[in-house]
Amino acid sequence: MGDCAKRMKIVVVGSGDIGGYVIDELKKIGDLVIASRSSKEFPVDISEKKSIEGLFKRVGLCDHIVCTAGKTAIAPFKEATDEQFQNSIASKMMGQMNLVRVGMRHLNKGGSITLTTGGFSHFLFPNVIIPAFVNAALERFVVNVAFEMKNHFRINAVSPDLLKDSADRYGTKGFEAFPIVMGEQVGKAYRNAIESKVTGSVIRVEGR
Ligand SMILES: NC(=O)c1ccc[n+]([C@@H]2O[C@H](COP(=O)([O-])OP(=O)(O)OC[C@H]3O[C@@H](n4cnc5c(N)ncnc54)[C@H](OP(=O)(O)O)[C@@H]3O)[C@@H](O)[C@H]2O)c1
Repeated sequence: MGDCAKRMKIVVVGSGDIGGYVIDELKKIGDLVIASRSSKEFPVDISEKKSIEGLFKRVGLCDHIVCTAGKTAIAPFKEATDEQFQNSIASKMMGQMNLVRVGMRHLNKGGSITLTTGGFSHFLFPNVIIPAFVNAALERFVVNVAFEMKNHFRINAVSPDLLKDSADRYGTKGFEAFPIVMGEQVGKAYRNAIESKVTGSVIRVEGR
C-alpha cells in the first residue's frame, strides 16, 4: 500500500540565526519554501507589500507560513532617529503584518501563520524601546487577528529570548542579564505552533 499522507508545504521567510533552527526543525515535517531578500529562488522583501504578493504568486497555495524576518534598531529613546523608527516599523512590524494580510489568502484549509517577536517586550532593558514596542504591537495583532479569523486560519507568535548563537556572535554588552536560549528549543516552539491547535498565542521560549 502506498503512503497517501501528503507532505505539508511550509513557507519560511528568513533563514538567519533564528530561521536556521526553524528550518532544521520544520524540514522534518514538511517541504519548505525558504524566502528572503537574498534568496535566488524565492526573493522577497517583506517591507514591500508588492514583493510579498509576488512571492505568493510564485508559491501558490501553502499549508503554513512562518516569518523569522524583520529588523529593528537598538538605540536610546533620546537619540533614536526618525529613520530608525520608520525602518523598524516598515521591516518588522508592517513587514510581518503585511505577510499575514497577503499570505492568509494563499493558505490551504487548516493552515497557520507564525510570526516572531522576542523577549524585548517582556523585560525592561535600556535602548530597546523600538524592538519592545514593535514586538508588543505584533503580539496584540496576533490576538486580534486570531479572534476575528478563528474560522479561517490559526495565527501565533513565537517570542524567543536571546539566542545563544546571536549572543556569541554579537556579544552581550548591555544585555548581560538577558536570558539565553538554545536554538533547538526555539525551532521546536515553531513546530509546536504549527502542529498544535493553538491560535492567538504568544509562545514564549524562555532562556536562563
Ligand atoms: N537572534 C535572536 O537572539 C533573536 C531573539 C528574539 C527575537 N529575534 C527576532 O527574530 C527575527 C530574526 O532574527 P535573527 O537573529 O534570526 O536575524 P538574522 O540572523 O539577521 O536573520 C534575518 C533573516 O531574515 C531575512 N530578512 C531580513 N530582512 C528581511 C526582509 N525585509 N524581507 C525578507 N527577509 C528579510 C534575512 O535574509 P536577507 O538579508 O537575505 O533578507 C535573514 O535570512 C528578528 O525579528 C529578531 O528581532 C531574534
